[in-house]
Amino acid sequence: MNTLEAIYGRRSIRRFRDRPVPRQLIEQVLDATTQAPSGKNRQPWRFVVVEGPQKRAEMVRVMRSGIEKARQAGVDLGSSENTARIMEQAPVTVFVFNAEQTDEAGESPMFPVDYQSIGGAIQTMLLAAHELGLGSLWICDVFYAYDELREWLGRSDQMVAAVSLGYADEAPDARPRVPWQDLATWLAD
Ligand SMILES: Cc1cc2nc3c(=O)[nH]c(=O)nc-3n(C[C@H](O)[C@H](O)[C@H](O)COP(=O)(O)O)c2cc1C
Repeated sequence: MNTLEAIYGRRSIRRFRDRPVPRQLIEQVLDATTQAPSGKNRQPWRFVVVEGPQKRAEMVRVMRSGIEKARQAGVDLGSSENTARIMEQAPVTVFVFNAEQTDEAGESPMFPVDYQSIGGAIQTMLLAAHELGLGSLWICDVFYAYDELREWLGRSDQMVAAVSLGYADEAPDARPRVPWQDLATWLAD
């Protein structure tokens, strides 16, 4: 698979097989992820890998407690309950943190740079997983349980996203894209 095949062939996967992912494969995904570029080569990303039926069940319980709190506060729950079900099914979920942004230090002037770097790393993770035969889902619904999950994971830095990984149990068609011709303008001689 070349890079363009990976870019065009990747899909968000929301059904995973009940099959464990070898640790070596997850390590390979993480190693590839850390090859992403980052502003000033700060490599602000940190990862917490959650795997195993017990840890997964705890994670989803914590996620649901955050969703419940949001419901009680009248917040629109969006896709969060569905995402919690996907995380329950996925054998592995990797939480991604921004180590440069901590409760203690306050907002860093490099925040926009670090955040972009981490976005690039997450996309690198998805492409590497795809190349290695794994399905993935980039998840921001973890923000519904931001405080709860961060506390459960024992982190004081900023949670940016989570990525669920596993063997895909579906092969969805490509989701629609706005053609680039409608998005790009040219300034050229
Ligand atoms: C920043 C970001 C956050 C996302 N959060 C979620 C999520 O919480 N739950 C979910 O099911 N999908 C989530 N997605 C997946 C998108 O819905 C998906 O990428 C989009 O619909 C396009 O589909 P594709 O990835 O198959 O091309 C997220 C994607 C991105 C980039």
